[in-house]
Amino acid sequence: MKVLVTGGAGFIGSNFLYYMVDKYKDYDFVCLDALTYAGNYNNIKDLESRKNYKFVKGNITDRDLVDKLFAEEKFDWVVNFAAESHVDNSIKNPEIFLKTNIIGTQVLMDASKKYGVKRYHQVSTDEVYGDLPLDRPDLLFTEETPIHTSSPYSSSKAGADLLVGAYYRTYGLPITISRCSNNYGPYQFPEKLIPVIISKALKNEKVPVYGKGENVRDWIHVHDHNVGVDLILHKGKVGEVYNLGGHSERTNLDVVKTILKTLGKSEDLIEFVTDRPGHDLRYAIDSSKSEKELGWELSYKFEDGIKETVDWYVNHQDWIEDILSGNYKDAYKEN
Ligand code: NAD
Ligand code: DAU
Repeated sequence: MKVLVTGGAGFIGSNFLYYMVDKYKDYDFVCLDALTYAGNYNNIKDLESRKNYKFVKGNITDRDLVDKLFAEEKFDWVVNFAAESHVDNSIKNPEIFLKTNIIGTQVLMDASKKYGVKRYHQVSTDEVYGDLPLDRPDLLFTEETPIHTSSPYSSSKAGADLLVGAYYRTYGLPITISRCSNNYGPYQFPEKLIPVIISKALKNEKVPVYGKGENVRDWIHVHDHNVGVDLILHKGKVGEVYNLGGHSERTNLDVVKTILKTLGKSEDLIEFVTDRPGHDLRYAIDSSKSEKELGWELSYKFEDGIKETVDWYVNHQDWIEDILSGNYKDAYKEN
């Protein structure tokens, strides 16, 4: 079995590779990553010694490179994590989101179709469902919830999902889609809420909370997300969408206070700042389909996972500093 993993130098993709490369020693893994600002070769350099793994630097929108790679490697499966993933960036500069998230997906699916890939898996997001009101805790996103997006990021991910569905229906490409809630864990780029708060609080800098901090996210440990993707690849039904959620809804303010408490820092560090335009209020996922059909279950409780994660960042401050100084960009050349 030969598996292409795109975006493997990013947060979730790198955690996926560590999990899969060690678990399936008889599969071969190729990581294709453009090493954009969010791709950090330091995340995956420890994989270099594994015999069933190799890295290719390249862009998923580069049709010639992708075609050549598929012709050479004859992939059985493709798992597409590669994306522009930060909502705030998409508000400032939407275009790269459309290029990578939509056109990149199309290029990968064209190659998958041409070379007879047995499964194309699209890593999508709960943000394609839009948001839920804060005062209706009974409402959850199911796989049947209509697509209804708010940001250029979520619109680009939704556009990709629709295209993936079209390639299934029109060309019979054997696809699956996963839609997961907010991940936390090691190797998350310090632009997202949890690593931003940890890295700033460690330096006793003010920690920015958008608006009143009332927005709710459904936090899931990255390991549980990746176990879900593994199960979808092995047991999922072609043509289906699977939701994966953390059953851990928290307001942003709760998350920030939990982190500060874990670090032994004062809540005086909290600074309420201008809200994100179009800020989604609440995400909450119903994962019962994945639980029933795939036997997927969560292994992390948020209280334990967040402590472990805070510890990881405390013990890897050089990893954060390398990013903040820009040195991480040299990691690929050096290795
Ligand atoms: P990330 O930004 O940490 O990593 C993205 C990776 O993709 C980087 O290594 C980057 O170099 C690579 N990449 C970007 N553009 C590329 C291109 N054109 N060609 C090749 N590689 C490219 O993102 P993440 O948080 O790990 O998210 C991974 C996937 O999971 C994304 O598709 C995202 O939409 C989805 N997702 C993320 C979350 C979350 O909470 N972070 C939740 C649900 C779904
Ligand atoms: O739900 C899944 C999505 O989760 C993924 O598809 C995205 O790729 C991922 O980035 C994430 O999107 P969010 O916008 O929810 O994540 P972010 O970490 O940017 O923000 C989480 C919440 O915290 C959100 O309500 C905005 C708020 N926030 C964020 C930052 C960076 C702050 O209050 N302060 C901050 O400094």
